[in-house]
Amino acid sequence: MSSGVTPECHVAVPSNESIEQFLRSLDAEKEYFHFDPALARGTLTAAGHYAGDSLAGVAGVRRHCGFPVLYVVVRQDYQGRGIGRLLMERLHEQCRKRHRLIVLTVEKANERAVALYRSMGYATLGCGQSELYMALCFDALGGVAARLLRVLLWSSGKCR
Ligand SMILES: CC(C)(COP(=O)(O)OP(=O)(O)OC[C@H]1O[C@@H](n2cnc3c(N)ncnc32)[C@H](O)[C@@H]1OP(=O)(O)O)[C@@H](O)C(=O)NCCC(=O)NCCS
Repeated sequence: MSSGVTPECHVAVPSNESIEQFLRSLDAEKEYFHFDPALARGTLTAAGHYAGDSLAGVAGVRRHCGFPVLYVVVRQDYQGRGIGRLLMERLHEQCRKRHRLIVLTVEKANERAVALYRSMGYATLGCGQSELYMALCFDALGGVAARLLRVLLWSSGKCR
């Protein structure tokens, strides 16, 4: 197991129902994270960090406007122990085989998440009023899709 992960913890693929239940159980974490728990039903690929039988964090991608879009959240009392990074590494291993890129939206003020994404290779596609649009490309076609998305974001006026 990786840094900060105690022996009774493990990473596994959670069902969409258990992700939804986990997201519903969060409260304080919602400061920067406005994810409708019901959207977990559309999750294509996910990795979950379990503390015993309970989920302590989830990273997943769901389909939105034809693109695989990332979400990641770690329960507040488990944050800062390397779990977010570990979950994203596991997610990327799975996504690499299934998707050409992953995209995400993050609040600029969410410095922890922005630092995590940058350090994992996500590039900024555009910058809105309060949010950043980022992408991680797994191959050349993913790069083409990211460039297309960048044009769409700029032409739609979402980016400044
Ligand atoms: C963002 C989040 C998923 C990160 O998970 P985590 O388990 O706390 O993060 P990790 O411990 O794996 O740290 C990953 C990176 O985050 C950054 N980080 C961690 N703690 C930080 C802190 N106190 N201040 C700034 N950056 C920090 C670092 O870049 C760190 O990199 P390192 O591994 O080189 O130290 C978690 O904070 C979270 O769930 N936040 C609320 C939900 C959210 O904002 N999700 C993203 C929505 S787009």
